[in-house]
Amino acid sequence: MTIKQEIQDASSYIQDQVGEFRPEIGLILGSGLGVLAEEIESPVQIPYSDIPNFPVSTVEGHAGQFVFGTLNGKTVAAMQGRFHFYEGYSMDKVTFPVRVMKELGIHHVIVTNAAGGINEEFQPGDLMVIADHINNFGTNPLIGPNSNEFGPRFPDMSTAYSLELQHLAQDTAKELGMKLQSGVYVGNTGPTYETPAEVRMLRTLGGDAVGMSTVPEVIIARHAGMDVLGISCISNMAAGILDQPLHHDEVIETTEKVKANFLLLVKTIVSKMG
Ligand code: HPA
Repeated sequence: MTIKQEIQDASSYIQDQVGEFRPEIGLILGSGLGVLAEEIESPVQIPYSDIPNFPVSTVEGHAGQFVFGTLNGKTVAAMQGRFHFYEGYSMDKVTFPVRVMKELGIHHVIVTNAAGGINEEFQPGDLMVIADHINNFGTNPLIGPNSNEFGPRFPDMSTAYSLELQHLAQDTAKELGMKLQSGVYVGNTGPTYETPAEVRMLRTLGGDAVGMSTVPEVIIARHAGMDVLGISCISNMAAGILDQPLHHDEVIETTEKVKANFLLLVKTIVSKMG
């Protein structure tokens, strides 16, 4: 089966479940941030395991389902849990849901993640709008023959993260009296956290935060011509900055603490999206 057919099968299965419902905005919810999907009204939950050709998520803190419904008056399709390259999925699998979103008619994608703070002005619990990224995966999801029906062979990445949506996020944060950092997200494969030397290198290279996701999905979304907003929750300072080891429990704990702010920010942004 071609990837195009796989996408169409997944999309028509979903369409059968949701009927006439047409999502406008896609939400990809990162570690500990899946709670946003619980705010969706008239939810239709579709476990990934029911969707043809979908991989199944394994990592702690990821429920593994799509939630369709309405959020602050906008129709959304939220991914509660995503697929990571470090889990052993191919780049095609990691990015498959984004292609399905496009097939469902979605034009705007909000990508969220938990990330380690590289910028020493950041604090655990800060939210950061992603201004740009550095693909440090050592590979690219578009390697291989290009399907012109999906997008161009050499996609422009000069505004990978919509300036308009970044401004909307900043204006919304200001209105809500919330601090919102802005910075460059570095995508690493993981699953190891970085060494302190790697964190210093990434800082020298211009990174403000580091994580193990987002970059592949954003590349595929941009290839498909979708507008992207990225928001990181700085769950910890990256290795070597504070005198303490890193642990996934800390990542989940911090995201728990900022959950309320994160939910309010994203929901308010969604309500104002065109
Ligand atoms: N490094 C990489 N990924 C992460 C981190 C980190 O410090 N925190 C949360 N995800």
